[in-house]
Amino acid sequence: MKVAQFSRIGFIMAAAGSAVGLGNIWKFPYMTGEYGGGAFVLVYLVTIALIGFSVMVAEMLIGALGRRDTVGSFERLAPPDKKGWKYAGFMGFNGLIIMTFYSVVIGWIFYYLFEILSGLPTSTDTAKATFDNLVGNEAGIQIFWHTVATIIVTYIVYRGIKGGIEKINLTLMPALMLILFGLLIYAMNLDGFSKAFSFMFEPKWDKLNSEAIVRAIGHSFFTLSLGMGAIMTYAASLPKHASITKTAFIVTFMDTLIALVAGLVIYTFLFHEGAPAAQGPGLVFISLPVVLSNFGTLGTALALLFFLALSFAGLTSAVSLVEPVVQYLIDRFDTTRFKAVLIAGIGYYLVGIGALLSYTKAWGGFFSIAGKPLFDILEYSTDSILLPLGGLLIAIFVGYVLPKERVAAVLKKEMGERVFTVWYFSVRYIAPTALVFMMLNLTGILKIG
Ligand code: PHE
Repeated sequence: MKVAQFSRIGFIMAAAGSAVGLGNIWKFPYMTGEYGGGAFVLVYLVTIALIGFSVMVAEMLIGALGRRDTVGSFERLAPPDKKGWKYAGFMGFNGLIIMTFYSVVIGWIFYYLFEILSGLPTSTDTAKATFDNLVGNEAGIQIFWHTVATIIVTYIVYRGIKGGIEKINLTLMPALMLILFGLLIYAMNLDGFSKAFSFMFEPKWDKLNSEAIVRAIGHSFFTLSLGMGAIMTYAASLPKHASITKTAFIVTFMDTLIALVAGLVIYTFLFHEGAPAAQGPGLVFISLPVVLSNFGTLGTALALLFFLALSFAGLTSAVSLVEPVVQYLIDRFDTTRFKAVLIAGIGYYLVGIGALLSYTKAWGGFFSIAGKPLFDILEYSTDSILLPLGGLLIAIFVGYVLPKERVAAVLKKEMGERVFTVWYFSVRYIAPTALVFMMLNLTGILKIG
């Protein structure tokens, strides 16, 4: 199977586009609020530097050496007596599980883009009523926008690596950065900025519990698109002479920077109007529009730009969530891209409807398990269990299964001797320890804090 190749900048933008997503602009800010700010941000930053970056290099390496779909790459690289490792490649299917709720949230964003045009809510009560009504009562509207999101995403994936994925990332990523940095410059001149800055960067240790640590580790994987084969699948199309280390560094850096900028922008607006920090998942849908309504027409423009950026971020990540399974179906079953996209698309689309119904009053009970809405189960199981598990498999595979010479042959000349030693140590010991610890903590076997 010959896969198409990205251009060098195309690959960087596509990988960054995958990483920078709803995780950065929607989730990171509200999680920071829920877990009290600075200390959570610090754990998140340390995890990214210590584990996230190393695993990203490892995941890119598997793709770049394997040059197949995720299952095929593991199979090809595993030594003859360890071919069972190919099953690790099924981590690519996690992307579809994530897509079930990811697509619903992109749908909400589309809805808001239109909602904003008819005016911003002026009180938290009305804003909350709008959001709660959408999520709790308007199944039809949500299904409509979830359908629109699905059609756009699957169409881009259908157009392929070059004509679809690379192209959209080369356009939307610069646009997204322009909007966000523009908003940051504007925010820096507001009173709330210094408060937002200290909220995010002054650690309040008493707020940090074991749950916050586990969530920070899980989120660092989610936000970097690690542990489910998105980066691996893209790296299978890495241009021949591109540096894995350099690319992984740029992507990690951009992703972290954009999360921090998004957090600063949102909290500046919030604190400027004296709104409290902890708002949960409704943060950007409820609090932000109200706060911006105080800015008059300018506020409408700011809100529009913000949701536009959010939708760009969501779309460029969504395509990377669908592509691994599509690549797998094409490689394995020799199907056409069209059929592969259709199968993957319909699969997540239908479960996605279940996810959105699980939040509605009418259907919620039906789509819940043990009182937990399907939406939450899908989200929690991917970001707290499946992605760290995928990350663990990647670290073990590169750290223990692939012969060291093979790994060193590529990375030593990119990193230099000393950095390579540190990176290899991280992949063999630090990343697996942290991930196992995290999973044990989740199951309650090992509870800290
Ligand atoms: N990184 C994306 C985000 O931050 C989500 C994602 C996870 C994309 C895993 C691909 C793979 O929203």
